[in-house]
Amino acid sequence: MTYLEAYITDLTLDFFLENQNSLLDFAEINTLIKKASGINNFFTSQKEATELLNELKTNSSIVSEPDRREYGDFQTNEDLAFQVAKYSFNKCEDIEFVLEPTCGKGNFILASLGKFETLKKVVGVEIYLPYVWKTKFGILKYFLENRNYSNPEIDIIHGNAFEFDYVELAKSTKHLKTLIIGNPPWVTNSELGSINSKNLPIKSNFKKHNGLEAITGKGNFDIGEYISFTMLKCFENHNGLFSFLIKNSVVKNLIQDQKRNRFRLSQLEKLNIDSKTEFNVSVNACLFITYLNKEPDFTCKVFDFYSREYITTFGWYKNKFVNSVEDYDKSSIVDGKSIFTWRSGVKHDCSKIMELERGNGHFVNALGEEINLENNLVYGLLKSSDLKKDKINTYRKLTIITQSKIGQDTTYIKDKFPLTYQYLYAHKDIFKKRKSSIYKEKPDFSIFGIGDYSFTKYKVAISGFYKSTHFTLVSPKDSKPIMLDDTCYFIGFDKLELAEIAHYLLNFDLVQRFLKSIIFSDSKRSINKDILMRIDFEKAFECSDFKSAKARINNLKIEHWEEFGELIKQCVDEQMILF
Ligand SMILES: C[S@@+](CC[C@H](N)C(=O)[O-])C[C@H]1O[C@@H](n2cnc3c(N)ncnc32)[C@H](O)[C@@H]1O
Repeated sequence: MTYLEAYITDLTLDFFLENQNSLLDFAEINTLIKKASGINNFFTSQKEATELLNELKTNSSIVSEPDRREYGDFQTNEDLAFQVAKYSFNKCEDIEFVLEPTCGKGNFILASLGKFETLKKVVGVEIYLPYVWKTKFGILKYFLENRNYSNPEIDIIHGNAFEFDYVELAKSTKHLKTLIIGNPPWVTNSELGSINSKNLPIKSNFKKHNGLEAITGKGNFDIGEYISFTMLKCFENHNGLFSFLIKNSVVKNLIQDQKRNRFRLSQLEKLNIDSKTEFNVSVNACLFITYLNKEPDFTCKVFDFYSREYITTFGWYKNKFVNSVEDYDKSSIVDGKSIFTWRSGVKHDCSKIMELERGNGHFVNALGEEINLENNLVYGLLKSSDLKKDKINTYRKLTIITQSKIGQDTTYIKDKFPLTYQYLYAHKDIFKKRKSSIYKEKPDFSIFGIGDYSFTKYKVAISGFYKSTHFTLVSPKDSKPIMLDDTCYFIGFDKLELAEIAHYLLNFDLVQRFLKSIIFSDSKRSINKDILMRIDFEKAFECSDFKSAKARINNLKIEHWEEFGELIKQCVDEQMILF
């Protein structure tokens, strides 16, 4: 049968049926349960005991599953909880205290019971009452099946992890060898904001972001990160282990903040799990495990959870936060400041009207309208998905470039290109609906991400959308430069040979290794302007040579190589004057 959604097995049911009369006095039944399993205050009121008694009589189940999105509820399956617990025990045998701060149905607590003869105390906290019951009944069943096991003192508390006094708990358990184990909620504060949930910590700025960072999104955090942070802060001086299933992004943030927090964590490990199989979600997640109360470490080794195969080590190295210490070690020479300014492509937020294809001698927009336009303002357009090739000089889509620099007056279109103007004007309402404030009080049909650089003939481009670090050489079609959209980054050249050398240097092993060492491919938009602006072309050029470049670039002449060298020198000199 089920009681408050907690499934009660026959053995447990028999126990309650045998002790039915004790349910009339919750103190009496609590004493019996404490004796059988170690659980303190199994029933917190007479009302609860009486409810179970009534349930036993009617033997019916109650309560349906509500929407649990705000609780980031992904219960760990028994097998995974068992594997995590086993891995943790192998690292730290004589655990005396197990804490699970958001224990759910209690699978980690159950996996921990009976593993340590030394176990003296167990605490689980959970906000959802049916899970509290599920955990309590699960523990009771466990001890009823294993009556010869000595039972620790157990508190399964129906409470809010954000209000629970972990500081006090840490004080009273300081002398106990501790295992903090579990799987905190998988939900971010902004997701909670969008569903008006109050399941948030009171002090949300635990990462100490300034006001601007909080506004620009750096203030967004995972609830799991807050709970992990709280555990590490309260228990860093306990001897023992911290062992949590969390999103990869949370581990990355914890290690990044470790430089400031300097928590007493050591031998940090991240073991990647398959969350699709384990939790049926497409989020990269892992087991994050670390010893407590040791000299602080600032890097974390990464393994595959199932095969234990070593993958990489990431974290703080040579004062930089890197994704691979090994790769960074071999490529840090090119970690500097790019002499070329990386730009993102054209932004218009009006693809229905501004993106065209060719068909039957006309242009066709995304609304399916066939249009006649002058060719002058129409340019080929490449998107991130078009940048898969090494070199490209064709395109599928076209776009209308209404301005050659940001804010330029667009009234000239009416006189010079009447067909284009008529088309744009006919759809002016769609332009007016653009939500972004950047278009407010700007000339009609304004675009962004535009400047002299957009019209350079040759571009070396990369997608900011995908994870590939390969760069594509974009050449003009019919001597007209091809544009990139705002999901791409590029540097531009007017001379093919110079673009070819930049393309070669960027795809050359050293720069590729450097990019892989600093890019966290789990993160959203992991390839961005900040990353690209770190590529030191001067060093990349010094580390390469004409012979190797010539082997990769058709008809490369020494004078082009030297010209590139001169260009770099000139840019470096200009930078020196500026700073
Ligand atoms: C990802 S689930 C994991 C549950 C359990 N630790 C496991 O591994 O199976 C997160 C749990 O946190 C609970 N939870 C969410 N917000 C909470 C809060 N503020 N206080 C305590 N528990 C909370 C949810 O109800 C859910 O059971």
